[in-house]
Amino acid sequence: MSDTLTILGLESSCDDTAAAVVRHTPGQSPEILTTVVAGQTELHAAYGGVVPEIAARAHAEKLDICVEQALEQAGVTLRDMDAIAVTAGPGLIGGVMSGVMCAKGLAVGANRPLIGVNHLAGHALTPRLVDTVAFPYLMLLVSGGHCQFLMVHAPDEFTRLGGTIDDAPGEAFDKTARILGLPQPGGPSVEAAATSGDPRRFSLPRPLLNQEGCNMSFSGLKTAVLRARDALVADQGGITEQDRADLCAGFQAAVCDVLAEKTRRALAIYLTQKSATPTIAVAGGVAANQAIRGALETVCNANGVAFTAPPLNLCTDNAAMIAWAGIERIRTGAPYDDLTLMARPRWPLDQSSPSMLGSGKKGAKA
Ligand code: KG4
Ligand code: ZN
Repeated sequence: MSDTLTILGLESSCDDTAAAVVRHTPGQSPEILTTVVAGQTELHAAYGGVVPEIAARAHAEKLDICVEQALEQAGVTLRDMDAIAVTAGPGLIGGVMSGVMCAKGLAVGANRPLIGVNHLAGHALTPRLVDTVAFPYLMLLVSGGHCQFLMVHAPDEFTRLGGTIDDAPGEAFDKTARILGLPQPGGPSVEAAATSGDPRRFSLPRPLLNQEGCNMSFSGLKTAVLRARDALVADQGGITEQDRADLCAGFQAAVCDVLAEKTRRALAIYLTQKSATPTIAVAGGVAANQAIRGALETVCNANGVAFTAPPLNLCTDNAAMIAWAGIERIRTGAPYDDLTLMARPRWPLDQSSPSMLGSGKKGAKA
């Protein structure tokens, strides 16, 4: 095998079916030859959240189409691939199984090696795909099912410094949207509504803000939005556009404050363990939020720390990050997987850290 690796990635752990081709030559920046994402928003719209069975079925139907499109757009064939990387967890198990089965079929059919990738590692390694950030660095991984601060030492070595003790912020954005009658996924709708809102009108909580360490909590915040909405309905018989915008702005400002303060603390904890100031990176779907990116950038500027955030299409779920995490693993000399590769609903990045969460809407969380 030459030093250049060209990898097909597959992703199907939640509600995005995705395939991508990424190429990397040591000493050069990685190249995303193509990234295809087929979302399922309309399929779940009537249910107010992701329905696992519907998601799994849609993945099974769409995966091969996405793979064909990705290969065609990249101008390559399956046989040009050095390996096939697939999300093997954590996530909604039916979707993960669809991806793993598809990847196994492709690997056998084209006689290519198979590599199972941790979805969270895909998000956590994205800064190296887009910005060639050097190890170690400090990562805030913030998505629909996950929220954690990680020291990223190597492609397969992570230390969790803290995380949410209940909901992930993406889940709180989605629930807030549901409470206010805005469409799913909630993050982009709440962000859009917040632009015309007054963040100071409602006094919403900043849970655990004054507690030591960098653990977080978001479920009380979402309940506070529910109470505020109910109070308005009791008073006025309903809520106006302006009420909705003000609640969204207040909610988003509270999330920004919590993430900013906890990032300061995570940095302080990091610096008790390592002497060199790290780059701080953010990734995951919620990292697409401009207000949150801005708040984190402000913390980094104030502390003289470099900040990096992927372009929006590489914050939300995609397969380029899975192909890249596969390349990173191969470069560490990790063995390929074989046909015994299993789909895992749970797969914490830091295996030594005790699990903090139960199962949520987006599947089991690490
Ligand atoms: O990383 P991702 O695509 O899937 C998971 O692995 O969870 O993240 C999806 C989550 C959803 O909860 C969605 O509402 C949220 O990311 N999200 C946002 C924004 N765009 C997506 N949250 C806040 N602001 C956004 N602009
Ligand atoms: Zn994700």
